[in-house]
Amino acid sequence: MVKAEKFIEEAVEAIRKEAGDEKVVMALSGGVDSSVCAELAKRAIGDRLIPIYVDTGLMRKGESDRICELFSDINLKMVEAGDEFFAALAGVTDPEQKRKIIGEKFIRIFEREALATGAAYLLQGTIYPDIIESEGGIKSHHNVGGLPLDIDFKGVIEPLVELYKDEVREVAGALEMPAEIQHRMPFPGPGLAVRCLGEVTPDKIAVVREANAIAEEELVEQFMPWQCFAAVLGLGTGVKGDIRLHGWIVAVRAVYSRDAMTAEPVELPWETMHRIASRITAEIPGVARVVYDITPKPPATIEYE
Ligand code: XMP
Repeated sequence: MVKAEKFIEEAVEAIRKEAGDEKVVMALSGGVDSSVCAELAKRAIGDRLIPIYVDTGLMRKGESDRICELFSDINLKMVEAGDEFFAALAGVTDPEQKRKIIGEKFIRIFEREALATGAAYLLQGTIYPDIIESEGGIKSHHNVGGLPLDIDFKGVIEPLVELYKDEVREVAGALEMPAEIQHRMPFPGPGLAVRCLGEVTPDKIAVVREANAIAEEELVEQFMPWQCFAAVLGLGTGVKGDIRLHGWIVAVRAVYSRDAMTAEPVELPWETMHRIASRITAEIPGVARVVYDITPKPPATIEYE
């Protein structure tokens, strides 16, 4: 823990130095990375930190309300931007293009907020694996490769850029953050869009959101995976009564990992898989089929896009 405490001391000092007398705007998603960043920056610059939560319309069930509750003690600004995101994503099917559009939208929203509040810097919770995967050409993490080049800030501050996720959790512990934040499952910046193959539409996202909630309810407490979630893969045939119909194919994924660079599927009991499949097909209209993904990383990635 001495290591984490030393890191905190140095990071607070570095943020203070980088920001100077300026205001700093940041995206607070409620994940462990951005929450740790917010706490460090609060210690460094106090009220000059302007945390913003963007409701992209691509968040998990109940997430926006939960974030408001969790961060009721800081001056969190909520930006409702679901319509904007869906409009920008209409008709787009290429995964990289989807990420770039989402990254660009995020930045434009922050620029807007920075302009309105007079902030000169953007603070981001980028961690080391985000950089490696973006540089390795695997995919653009929305907070790295997704940034537009004409970014209109004096600078970007990234205090966690040398840390792995487990180190960030250690720092969260040393900062005495609530357990819910410390142990929170990672959730990608582009949100449910990367769990919705092909075009992102409000209807499809609603299916992904419900299926995710069921996967989390059934798996988080019992198996404590690194991550578990559901994704909509596309349409396939199903049968209801005597009628063949087209319905969504939902994939469920649960993995163990240390740092997301590699991952192993969780060996779920048949009974659990059966219950999840029954619940998803019964509770979400339009789902015809549920599959469980047993592919490790590599060769697969954790997310679907
Ligand atoms: P993959 O799918 O590359 O994911 O095996 C590795 C870890 O990173 C998360 N992930 C992201 N996080 N922006 C993020 O902030 C992104 O664009 C992004 N893509 C994937 C993923 O959930 C997993 O924990």
